[in-house]
Amino acid sequence: MIHLRKKKIDLERLPRHIAIIMDGNGRWARRRGLPRSAGHAAGAENFKTIVRFCGEIGISYLTVYAFSTENWSRPIDEVDNLMRLLEEYLDKAYTELDDRVRVRIIGEREMLSEVLRTKVEKLEADTAERTGMVLNIALSYGGRQEILHAVRLLAEKVESGTVKPADITEEMLSKGLYTAGQPDPDLIIRPSGEKRLSNFLLWQAAYAEFWYSDILWPSFKTAHLVEAIAAFQKRDRRFGGV
Ligand code: FPP
Repeated sequence: MIHLRKKKIDLERLPRHIAIIMDGNGRWARRRGLPRSAGHAAGAENFKTIVRFCGEIGISYLTVYAFSTENWSRPIDEVDNLMRLLEEYLDKAYTELDDRVRVRIIGEREMLSEVLRTKVEKLEADTAERTGMVLNIALSYGGRQEILHAVRLLAEKVESGTVKPADITEEMLSKGLYTAGQPDPDLIIRPSGEKRLSNFLLWQAAYAEFWYSDILWPSFKTAHLVEAIAAFQKRDRRFGGV
């Protein structure tokens, strides 16, 4: 049991998989008269704090939305800035991260620059045998695109005659997702006041509990995460049953 700001969470009943839409960096910067890049830099720092905390309390899977397929349409300077932050993080991850954390990048990796892709693949390979928390960083990620990707893999099997359309199961489709082999998120958190999923983990979110907050991502502290987990622990999850 841990107590934070009078909230209690039961460490025996933690959500196994938490997913976070790290939203509100731009507004956080604007309110302070700073450029958007300062908001992203503060968001990246906060991301590191939250990753550390999740590992410490014993979360098994953490997925963060760092860059969506739609984010490519932002001004080139902002895209470059975000890619630079990610690259810096991948370089520092070796010393920054707890040495039990396994990192996975989910998304359209063919869209990433060759330098970034090489760093991503190296970090994934170097952490693949670890046994602690799995950290999925969604990068050039879109839920619909992910489902399409899984459907194409199945279509190839149908075309080659390995699978009959009528035999396709949910499990078979799940195996073609970037999160194959991982449990679906139990809790999805979106700070910044928006109440939408924005193409995040569409298939996997089927039975996730949602938690929203007006706090902007760079100001989202571990105490807010504790609050979200405490709220999650009070919910009655019925998965469609009674
Ligand atoms: C959305 O907020 C946030 C993003 C598009 C980027 C999220 C990225 C980070 C938090 C940094 C990631 C870095 C690492 C190292 C993983 P917004 O900027 O659109 O905010 P706004 O809606 O207030 O404009």
